[in-house]
Amino acid sequence: MKSRSLVLYITAGCCFAYFLSGCHEQPAPAPAPKKPENTFTVNGSVREIKINPETPDFPEHEGKAEFVSYCSMCHSLKYISMQPDFPRKTWEAEVTKMVAKYKAPIDSIVSSKIVDYLVAIKSKS
Ligand code: HEC
Repeated sequence: MKSRSLVLYITAGCCFAYFLSGCHEQPAPAPAPKKPENTFTVNGSVREIKINPETPDFPEHEGKAEFVSYCSMCHSLKYISMQPDFPRKTWEAEVTKMVAKYKAPIDSIVSSKIVDYLVAIKSKS
């Protein structure tokens, strides 16, 4: 009887050891597939967004800092880069329109600096 329970204990011990070693051999879970950049999923379908750089290249010139910070408040600076070269009068009217009609918070000193900048970089005078 005694040797029988010893056999039982040994068998149970072996099974336990086998069980433990089995745990160690479990394959690691497959790493989640890497999500490509700028993608998101809608109902299981992957969509991608391409975000273009916001600021087109504008030439360095006096007034550029004011132009870039004020004129990009409401819309892309592409609104300006895609315009043809305008005479000073047209740029003045354009900036005045942004202030008067669309309420751009730009005072007259900064406005004239911006007009000078636009005339310098994008005008046929
Ligand atoms: C307070 C918001 C605001 C600011 C700041 C602003 N704009 Fe605009 N701008 C607008 C709106 C609104 C439109 C019209 C958008 C449309 O029709 O789709 C516009 C359109 C334009 C256009 C397209 C032509 C037109 O007249 O519609 C130009 C060029 C332009 N803006 C230049 C400028 C410049 C230069 C500055 C900086 C002095 C400036 N904007 C700052 C609101 C603003």
